[in-house]
Amino acid sequence: MVRTRPRPPLAPPSRWGRLTVSSRSLVLFLPGGAMFEAAEQRLVEAGQPEVLRFWPQLSDTERKTLATTVQQQEPGELRAHCEAAIRARTASQTPLARLMEPLPQEVVGSVSRTEADVLRRWQERGFQEISKGHVAVLLLAGGQGTRLGVPYPKGMYDVGLPSGKTLYQIQAERIRKMKQLAEERLGGKCTLPWYIMTSEFTLEPTEKFFAKHQYFGLPQSDVVMFEQRMLPAVGFDGKIILEGKGRIAMAPDGNGGLYRALTDNKILEDMDLRGVRVVHVYCVDNILVKLADPVFIGFCVERGADCGAKVVGKAYPTEPVGVVCRVNGIYQVVEYSEVSQETVERRNPDGQLTFNAGNICNHFFTVEFLKSVTEEFEPKLKPHVAVKKIPYVDEEGNCVKPEKPNGIKMEKFVFDVFQFSKKFAVFDVLREDEFSPLKNAESAVAKDTPSTARRALLWQHYRWAVRAGAHFLDHNNSRIPVLTQLREVDDPPAICEISPLISCEGEDLEERLKDREFHPPLLLID
Ligand code: UD1
Repeated sequence: MVRTRPRPPLAPPSRWGRLTVSSRSLVLFLPGGAMFEAAEQRLVEAGQPEVLRFWPQLSDTERKTLATTVQQQEPGELRAHCEAAIRARTASQTPLARLMEPLPQEVVGSVSRTEADVLRRWQERGFQEISKGHVAVLLLAGGQGTRLGVPYPKGMYDVGLPSGKTLYQIQAERIRKMKQLAEERLGGKCTLPWYIMTSEFTLEPTEKFFAKHQYFGLPQSDVVMFEQRMLPAVGFDGKIILEGKGRIAMAPDGNGGLYRALTDNKILEDMDLRGVRVVHVYCVDNILVKLADPVFIGFCVERGADCGAKVVGKAYPTEPVGVVCRVNGIYQVVEYSEVSQETVERRNPDGQLTFNAGNICNHFFTVEFLKSVTEEFEPKLKPHVAVKKIPYVDEEGNCVKPEKPNGIKMEKFVFDVFQFSKKFAVFDVLREDEFSPLKNAESAVAKDTPSTARRALLWQHYRWAVRAGAHFLDHNNSRIPVLTQLREVDDPPAICEISPLISCEGEDLEERLKDREFHPPLLLID
């Protein structure tokens, strides 16, 4: 595994949440008084001297930690961040609904409405790109997974499959298989690097997890982990929130923090060195995600797209997904939280939902496009404001869990760069084949939970087995009637799990399964 680290800057560090060796050592070697003065000077400049109000009560270690966090903040940026948070919260928003239009059909390609030979052509094109080493996958894994509520990164979650595989393992094995398929098809070896964006919360456990599992059989040099920046949470009064007497409440800067993280960690340079030209970016929690999907890649490459998004039709109007659409003529994702119930339920005369292109956080970018974003457009990305309940310490130093929202977190979103695309493409795929996200804990709600994710995968594998000619028997040795409809509330009629290392998308199963009878569970696990 390669873990990139930012180089020590020539000028004083001007990055949020970035720690350079030089700045850390500088702070840690200062005597107590000087450490305070250095931190105070920065905070006064930023208009935030209150951050040090508990200093006399802090232990040496707490002082060092706090001083280090402060040292990471460039005062001008810190001031601007806090002011922007307040402005953004109070700014009057133009109602989006009036400006939203559905996608024009000419940008949309659809798996279900495209002839099989065209799909094969796209797939072939995608495989060519992979086999030439032009493709990388990039996982967004810096989120805190608050809704799922586990104290470790979501990718380490085991949804209860018979194999016990975690999301990370499933993804790693799909990458291995995709690389193998590309090599077999076109002859010769290739690399399919896996970039993983983490945050302060997820980097260390993710690194340890991968090391413990020997990178799931991937070459270590093809797994590149890097870290996104962190931003302080701000109260409604514009003041930084302390979550402990010596701890600022920090949060990752959103999955759109990707673009600054690419620069901070010189990831595009690394891609250039490896000859990567296109990147498949995806989020960690979709158990059905197709990694480096050659059909999607071939479709985008053939269209000459610099930027693309996969979408699925919404499961129900209020499903909590963003919709890909145009706003004021510009391609954009509008999050479910940004529009009214009336807008999400709007229908066309034929009864179809008007805004039905559900974003599944699966994006295609050319490296050239990413360069244009990091070099030119990133500063133009407007942060999104999330008003949250943020635990804080009161004036007496007691930790308080607020019952009402008390502060602001600012995030950038990965899809906000669609507006800069010169050629945008959208690929409409089948939900039962490609989308079942793990968002919520089991008990919270019945949707997007470990059970729904597990069932979506088991149904898919059951369909593959049946399609390949397998028959399942009950304990009386009678054949179990075939059901093909995905029903997330039930398990499939026969439990069947197929390792991605055996079949990535249901391919090549006939030899093992055709006209054979099995008592479930059927586990094709190598
Ligand atoms: C995301 C999409 C939404 C889409 C849905 C589909 C965004 C902003 N929203 O919503 O449009 O319909 O997925 O499931 O993409 N992450 C980071 N760093 C961060 C924050 C998040 O890497 O600072 C990563 C997460 O680890 C995750 C991905 O980004 O892999 C998506 O983040 P999440 O907060 O789960 O987004 P959703 O609200 O589910």
